[in-house]
Amino acid sequence: MSETYDLIVIGAGPGGYVAAIRAAQLGLKVACIEKRGTLGGTCLNVGCIPSKTLLHNSHLYHEARKNFASLGIGVTGLTLDLATMMAHKDKQVSLLTAGIEGLFKKNGVDYLKGFGKIEGPGQVSVDGGAPLATKHILIATGSEPTPLPGVEIDEQRIVSSTGALKLPEVPQHLVVVGGGVIGLELGSVWARLGARVTVVEFLDHIGGAMDREMGTQFQRILKRQGLKFQLSTKVTNIDKTEAGLTIATEPAAGGAGQTLEADYCLIAIGRRPYTAGLGIENIGVAIDARGRVPTDADLSVAPGVWAIGDAVQGAMLAHKAEEEGVAVAERIVGQRPHINYQAIPGVVYTAPEAADVGASEEALKEAGIPYKKGSFPFKANSRARATGATDGLVKLLAHSETDALLGAHIIGPNAGEMIHELVTVLEFGGSVEDIARSSHAHPTLSEAIKEAALAIGDGAIHI
Ligand code: FAD
Ligand code: NAI
Repeated sequence: MSETYDLIVIGAGPGGYVAAIRAAQLGLKVACIEKRGTLGGTCLNVGCIPSKTLLHNSHLYHEARKNFASLGIGVTGLTLDLATMMAHKDKQVSLLTAGIEGLFKKNGVDYLKGFGKIEGPGQVSVDGGAPLATKHILIATGSEPTPLPGVEIDEQRIVSSTGALKLPEVPQHLVVVGGGVIGLELGSVWARLGARVTVVEFLDHIGGAMDREMGTQFQRILKRQGLKFQLSTKVTNIDKTEAGLTIATEPAAGGAGQTLEADYCLIAIGRRPYTAGLGIENIGVAIDARGRVPTDADLSVAPGVWAIGDAVQGAMLAHKAEEEGVAVAERIVGQRPHINYQAIPGVVYTAPEAADVGASEEALKEAGIPYKKGSFPFKANSRARATGATDGLVKLLAHSETDALLGAHIIGPNAGEMIHELVTVLEFGGSVEDIARSSHAHPTLSEAIKEAALAIGDGAIHI
């Protein structure tokens, strides 16, 4: 065996690369193994960053095409150069992934290119080479798209999110299987660029565990934007034909089927942990029934082995993986960090955005926690009026007796930025009255948060 490391991280997504940097900052000798050829994992390469780039740019195009005229801005000769839009996205991805390489160099993290395999306790090989010795191993191998049984994803016509981020043309008709975060974000991108988009969702609502009242509002807004929804419906088969795709659907509860003709189909029915070839069995550990690496509450798998991010239980979010990466690095050096999983926000980056943190009404009911709620619509917010983005609302949930903030839900412009005020209140155990009594600059969208808090107390002012 050659070098001895304090920590070898397998996987350089937001969980793994952040853990590696923090561990190096804490004085550990660290290596990070990545098989992809670039750093940043799913998030930077084929997830958060390329999708947000396309969401932003398709939004601009859509605004110019549909909404500028009503503001008195005339555009003639508006065109879409998809190849340039894609090249812009690819460039941002390259700049960011190269940036992580720079951060590794700056912090003295050894970047080992190749496939990492656990050969035994304290031993990790790269591409089958001689095992490297390490005191700690961190599994940060992330996730991959969940396949739809009986359907082959060719990444040409039947695509996962990875293929949907680089379609060579705007589809005539894109069928999206799954009305979760990926389906709604990437469905929105292609709808804005001119595709007809039909979302087929197994459940009777979109947005997964999103607060149900907010989910209903959200669906209404997206429908107005042109997305079509077939809820309580499952896809049973996809046939590739000369003309494109014939997609067979059935009611989720069973019954007479229908077909949809499309030229592209995006399968977005969830993601599953990726642990293929990892060698976890070589430390006497088995993955759980849902394919996840089992950990205790401190993210420990076995003595000297840790796991984080999409590979373990919990929300599949980049910032959740990052928090876990930092926590593991700090635990290795004997610190005792805490992650408040209740205060991890979720954002769907459509227009308007949908953001939430803490409990939904459904979760509070199920837990038997008494609550009161207040909401405020953006149509009564002066900044939203001034900028013409009035869809959506803020909804706050507070404990009936203590007034503590329990959950916050925003659909609206910049919701993904605004939610952090509420993350902070939740993190500090603040009350809704604290929010209502805090000064919010005028005219800002954030005033809708103050008004929703006032609505729980003595009443909102502007409605
Ligand atoms: P990953 O980012 O998946 O990284 C794991 C890395 O490990 C990969 O690069 C993989 O190649 C590597 N690897 C795996 N096995 C090995 C091995 N044996 N040896 C070497 N390397 C290995 N989350 C958000 O919070 N916000 C968003 O806006 C957002 N948008 C998304 C959009 C899309 C289209 C998708 C697909 C996901 C999105 N996500 C978003 C989710 C986010 O990308 C993940 O939650 C996050 O990347 C998980 O980080 P991770 O470090 O656990 O794993
Ligand atoms: P998801 O879990 O968000 O949604 C999948 C949807 O597919 C669910 O609504 C589910 O009911 C439905 N579904 C499952 N099987 C089906 C079937 N056979 N037919 C029809 N519908 C079916 O998963 P998604 O959208 O694939 O995203 C994966 C993960 O990536 C998510 O967990 C999310 O956290 C993460 N992500 C986060 C983003 C963000 O934070 N903005 C953006 C994109 C992805």
